[in-house]
Amino acid sequence: PTSADQSSFKFNNPVYKQLTRPILFSMDAERAHAMSEYALHIPLLWKAFGARSKIGDPRLRADIAGLSLPSPIGLAAGYDKNCKNLSAILDLGFGFVTGGTVTLSARPGNPKPRMIRRIENKALINSLGFPGEGVQRITGRIKHMGNRRGRIFISISGTIEDNIVECHRNLAQHVAGIELNISSPNTAGLQVFHDPARLRNLVELLRENQGATAPLLVKLPPWTADSDNRRQSLALIETAVSAGADGLVVANTMPVECADLAVGKGGFSGAPLLENTVRMTAETCALVGKDAAVVSCGGVSNAEDVWRLLSAGASAIQLYTAMVYEGPGLPGRINRELLKMMNRAGIKQLSEIAGAPLPSITH
Ligand code: FNR
Repeated sequence: PTSADQSSFKFNNPVYKQLTRPILFSMDAERAHAMSEYALHIPLLWKAFGARSKIGDPRLRADIAGLSLPSPIGLAAGYDKNCKNLSAILDLGFGFVTGGTVTLSARPGNPKPRMIRRIENKALINSLGFPGEGVQRITGRIKHMGNRRGRIFISISGTIEDNIVECHRNLAQHVAGIELNISSPNTAGLQVFHDPARLRNLVELLRENQGATAPLLVKLPPWTADSDNRRQSLALIETAVSAGADGLVVANTMPVECADLAVGKGGFSGAPLLENTVRMTAETCALVGKDAAVVSCGGVSNAEDVWRLLSAGASAIQLYTAMVYEGPGLPGRINRELLKMMNRAGIKQLSEIAGAPLPSITH
């Protein structure tokens, strides 16, 4: 086996793999997600994961646009849309979490089925379309989260500038950072912000929101090596950063046709995205230099993946789909494995991974 095979083998938790996952995977994907959300309401269970997660080890400290976080591993937007379990998620060993995506008003989302697995590829395709309770209820929840809020980002979106500004006005003073989602493929109308002039105006409006010091990250749609697509995305990056964004999340799910979903198309996520994420990260970092933080997202499932993205210049990473396949011990295992890799490479702090080659696996 390749070194990548060996490390992903090590990351498979036997209890999750042989017991919990088969039970969850016997259910419809959205129902299984609801079950795992329900389980997250049992805080003691998750604190046990946190105890082994190496959160608190100074070598893992990451910095996103001036925010100091205890690990570079974040949970991506979409897992906890209504921000009911953010604290328990942090307890699993994540350095940070992005709640949402939150919209101004409550929304039912798209018709079901709207979330399916591609088990053979460790991938998912979803067409959820922002189901959620709306900004007011969610802000009420966030306000009561005490100092945990220093590790919480919230993703906001909408198709009308005023609505997004209103979400920002409600939330930005209560959280560590805001992620502006202009890239979900499942909400008709978001693409208006792929026009650089509209994006510039929106980012500037959010920057004008007085009293909010929370860094603003813009979550981009993915691009391929195809030149037109790539040129458009690089223009969006330049626009977002010059309009005042502090960072970029690279990137959202890949739009695909899918007859198994009620709406016939959705966003593809999971392991097959990784190589594209590495390439997009390198391109983005080369373009923005030190002007913006880059958070890589798409296909991350083990510490080697994290290393490759940090080496390409990312400040941190986010993952979602790998949690579904590898289980709740995943962030803690990645933290532990990352520390081992840093030891092997003689690296004492996370920022030194930038540009460093992948250390060889030893057993
Ligand atoms: C997502 N994702 C997502 N992104 C976002 O910005 N807002 C959202 O509400 C959602 N919702 C959502 C639901 C589901 C079921 C999935 C699988 C994904 C995208 C997610 O944050 C991430 O960008 C991609 O999933 C790629 O990362 P992974 O899953 O390959 O690690």
